[in-house]
Amino acid sequence: MLYEDLAGRLGAQIRRGLLRPGERLPSLRRLGRQEKVSIATAVEAYLRLEREGLVEARERSGYFVRARAVPPPQARLPRVQSRAPQTLRNPALLGVLDVLSREDLLPLHVTTPAAELLPGRALAAATARTLRRDPGLALAYGAPQGLLQLREQIARRYLGCGVEVDPAEVVITAGAMEAISLALRCVTRAGDVVLLETPTYYGILQAVAALGLRAIEVPSRGSAGIDAAAVRTALERHPVRAAVLVPNFNNPNGSLTGDDDKRAIVAACGERGVVVIEDDLYGELAYSGERPAPLRRYAGRARVITCSSWSKTLAPGLRVGWALAGDHVDDIVRAKCFSSVATASLPQRAIGEYFARHDFDRSLRRLRRELATNAQRWRDAIRRSWPDGTRVSEPAGGVSLWLELAGGVDGQALFEAAMAHGIGCLPGHLFSLRGDYRGHLRLGLGLAWNARVEDGLRELGRLAGRLA
Ligand SMILES: Cc1ncc(COP(=O)(O)O)c(C=O)c1O
Repeated sequence: MLYEDLAGRLGAQIRRGLLRPGERLPSLRRLGRQEKVSIATAVEAYLRLEREGLVEARERSGYFVRARAVPPPQARLPRVQSRAPQTLRNPALLGVLDVLSREDLLPLHVTTPAAELLPGRALAAATARTLRRDPGLALAYGAPQGLLQLREQIARRYLGCGVEVDPAEVVITAGAMEAISLALRCVTRAGDVVLLETPTYYGILQAVAALGLRAIEVPSRGSAGIDAAAVRTALERHPVRAAVLVPNFNNPNGSLTGDDDKRAIVAACGERGVVVIEDDLYGELAYSGERPAPLRRYAGRARVITCSSWSKTLAPGLRVGWALAGDHVDDIVRAKCFSSVATASLPQRAIGEYFARHDFDRSLRRLRRELATNAQRWRDAIRRSWPDGTRVSEPAGGVSLWLELAGGVDGQALFEAAMAHGIGCLPGHLFSLRGDYRGHLRLGLGLAWNARVEDGLRELGRLAGRLA
């Protein structure tokens, strides 16, 4: 907001002593002219500074810096478990950028399905048809909220898992990650506390850190996912503003939170006015084909913002995702507009065309089957050639495999050794704010199985054995 910005700048000048105690501040008219804002904005800015105890109004004389500026009331600091926001300085995260940009690696770290497992040809045809039909498509901005046809498509899809979605509350974004960032921006302010499960996706940790938020981490119980009782306890102890959770096949540990816990988590958050931002990216990737419910199913539209995308099921490179923004839709559309105007029109139209003419469910069935088989192949390969005592997750969906290394091997050391051998993997401590999970490693299950993958897994096991 304009007035907040102006008040922030004036407040900083007062705190730095550039505007001295007792000094008269510019009249509203002059401030308006000086800052090129309306008088109403200037009034709002002074009122805000007055509330903060930095300025005082004197009748018929205007605004003055308070004789002894009262410091703004300090928010009571919760006893947080983590030392967030430290994430952006975590050297391991820079390492990730390194891995992601190296094209020479055997990408055992990726959690996107290989091209062979996605309907690339159908999508290419849909894109070509779209452009043929509307060659001027790229010559104009799209609407900030996104293409209506696609929003309707998304709403229809959620009906299949018992969630009623109004296309008017859907915002199309550049992937799930943008949806999560925008949602966080709309429901929190810097310094707020957010609740996360641990381990969790490093992109969420980065988003939290980038917004200057502090985090409480609630441990996830292996394959059973998020424990509602632990969430309730954390909410009782800390002034949590929002929660960011991945209840369906979390990355990295593949955990699936049960329906009872989901219901109880949503209820506990609702009682305290905590907005839940749900990352449902892997919800469609249950190996059994039985799609688990999103948290949204158990809450009203005011309380859960569901974020997802087609990155894991259709086309990561198109960067099309969404937020079921519910009552937050206006804020999220505004935030989207100010951050990137709108999601690119061509990929949105191409996906719309793909859905109109092709069988997404068929492609999804094949993908789920392949991922389920991969999970088994990866686990078998690890059992055959990794040190005894290596523990491996047994996911029921998603694209991640989570390993607890045997013999006290450090995940970072194994990651570095693997990189030197041209193999990609990710160290466990990337998935925690506090650098936990040093003894863990995350692999992706997205590659098509072949001799190279088998050799790569064997080689990783050999390296783990050498380090043990
Ligand atoms: C849990 C989770 N959320 C979000 C993302 C990013 O999704 P998108 O490509 O849709 O931005 C990923 C990517 O791996 C992920 O694992």
